Amino acid sequence: MLVIHWDLQLLGGNYMLIITGASGGIGYEVFKKLSLENKVIAISNRNKLENNENGICVNVNLLNHKEIDQLIYKNKENLDQITVLNLAVKSFDGLLANYPIEKVRETFELNFFSNLYLVQALLPMMINQKWGRIIHFSSIVGNEGATGAGIYAASKSALIGYSKTLSKEYGRFGITSNIIELGYFEKGLIESFNQEKIKNIISNTSIRRLGVTDDIIHAIKFIQKSDFYNGEVLKLNGGK
Ligand SMILES: NC(=O)c1ccc[n+]([C@@H]2O[C@H](COP(=O)([O-])OP(=O)(O)OC[C@H]3O[C@@H](n4cnc5c(N)ncnc54)[C@H](OP(=O)(O)O)[C@@H]3O)[C@@H](O)[C@H]2O)c1
Repeated sequence: MLVIHWDLQLLGGNYMLIITGASGGIGYEVFKKLSLENKVIAISNRNKLENNENGICVNVNLLNHKEIDQLIYKNKENLDQITVLNLAVKSFDGLLANYPIEKVRETFELNFFSNLYLVQALLPMMINQKWGRIIHFSSIVGNEGATGAGIYAASKSALIGYSKTLSKEYGRFGITSNIIELGYFEKGLIESFNQEKIKNIISNTSIRRLGVTDDIIHAIKFIQKSDFYNGEVLKLNGGK
């Protein structure tokens, strides 16, 4: 049985940032940088992360909605001015013609349904506090499709209507919902690509490099600071 360890009182103070996928290639770097100056709850699944001065790390299987309830509802007094970064992701490669339907469900369960469930758990607090930043992470693939990544792409493009609707329903409460649509970054999912594919990606990127963590941090901070940037897809891809 999974044992969840967390003690949000440990570090004191209110928590501003909730990062899912915090053990991922991108999430871990984002967690390390943002926890230098923000209180953070970093959520991973199988990988155990170390707490730091500002960061509490918890293992939560986001597919198990009871674990989300436990994390959020039992600790809501510690959550204030919340920004949630939905980085957790599942992706299985395969052509659509024979893509197993259970893998479609698994992909959507994490990339879409658990994102929605976590947001549903946080919205009442955000509404009470008249402030919230919901930031989803998508991929250039979600917009354009890619051979062998059709279901991942579909799970990401589903975020668009959902995020835009969040922005319309809750903007009046000071809550914004936006998507950061990533091009190719040097960490995370890309680590499964071969060198030739990575070379091609770089030569097809106007700025001639892969994205780095600071590119994402700048975008997150911009969205956090602006209450007027809402319901948008911020494309972060070095130029196409
Ligand atoms: N890397 C890129 O170049 C790139 C490009 C475009 C878009 N993106 C987007 O950026 C985001 C982060 O991508 P990444 O490359 O960092 O991904 P990644 O390295 O594959 O990390 C995936 C993360 O999701 C977590 N996760 C998986 N199943 C989970 C579950 N059931 N419950 C809770 N957490 C779970 C993993 O936790 P554990 O490891 O602890 O199990 C891990 O932290 C994704 O939304 C992705 O679509 C990335």
